[in-house]
Amino acid sequence: MSSPPVQSAFESSLNHNLDEVQGQIESLRSQLAESQRLATIGTIAAVIAHEFNNLLTPILSYSQMALQSACGDKPDMDLVRKALSRSFQSAQKAGKICESMLALARGESRRGAVAVQKIVDETLSVLARDPGKDGINLRVHVQPDLAVEGDSIQLEQVLLNLLINARQAMLGRGGSLTIKAALSEGGDVVIQVADTGCGIPEKLLPRIFEPFFTTKGTAQKGEARGSGLGLAICKQIVERHNGRIEVTSQVGKGTTFAITLPAAHGA
Ligand SMILES: Nc1ncnc2c1ncn2[C@@H]1O[C@H](COP(=O)(O)OP(=O)(O)OP(=O)(O)O)[C@@H](O)[C@H]1O
Ligand SMILES: [Mg+2]
Repeated sequence: MSSPPVQSAFESSLNHNLDEVQGQIESLRSQLAESQRLATIGTIAAVIAHEFNNLLTPILSYSQMALQSACGDKPDMDLVRKALSRSFQSAQKAGKICESMLALARGESRRGAVAVQKIVDETLSVLARDPGKDGINLRVHVQPDLAVEGDSIQLEQVLLNLLINARQAMLGRGGSLTIKAALSEGGDVVIQVADTGCGIPEKLLPRIFEPFFTTKGTAQKGEARGSGLGLAICKQIVERHNGRIEVTSQVGKGTTFAITLPAAHGA
């Protein structure tokens, strides 16, 4: 005798419900995959915009300076030439960041031995403003013949982000900004960026390398508000170079970032 029809109706309703639940799980799974994909694309776009913005700032400020002087009653051609050349240098650097990112996407490596002095000089040449104008005393001590193995454009991005943060930490108070680079006892290259700015409260130190963590919530003193991506980008680049980035800070005294990278020979 076949099983009672009541049971088969129950079974088929159960199977139907099961199919429905499985369908819902599938749909949720694909929605999750899509939102993760969009979040990744959103983060990549934010990173590119962030790094471009670092270089657009000097391009805009120096070209505006050149225009103002050129269109004024007494154009200062020396200033116009200097401002245009700095604006041009920053635009060139932005182009190189594009090339470096496209190469990364193609899986190409653009690494080689890079002189640390060159990384420092190139980065200083694209600062949006002369530190002296904000009462910041810049000191640079780079041990001669120091070289690291890496992508010079990416390493310059790291240094630029650290210098921008240091400047922002000293705005309105002046102070000194020191860039030091030397070989450690273990034979690694250590690049330090030390400022005498506002410092970072101890409880925030573990969070500053998190993407989107910022204390620059609102625009201040004519500066753009922060997105909290600078240090996350620095950390990612340094770690991709088999290095590490560390911070020490004291509120009211200042902050030092130290980057340790494997040394290269023969830059
Ligand atoms: N030199 C510094 N002195 C004091 N605080 C700093 C310094 N560098 C970083 N910080 C702190 O770490 C936070 C994160 O820095 P990060 O560079 O990642 O983002 P941001 O500067 O806020 O924004 P963005 O770099 O995207 O413009 C800053 O908001 C600030 O609180
Ligand atoms: Mg920053």
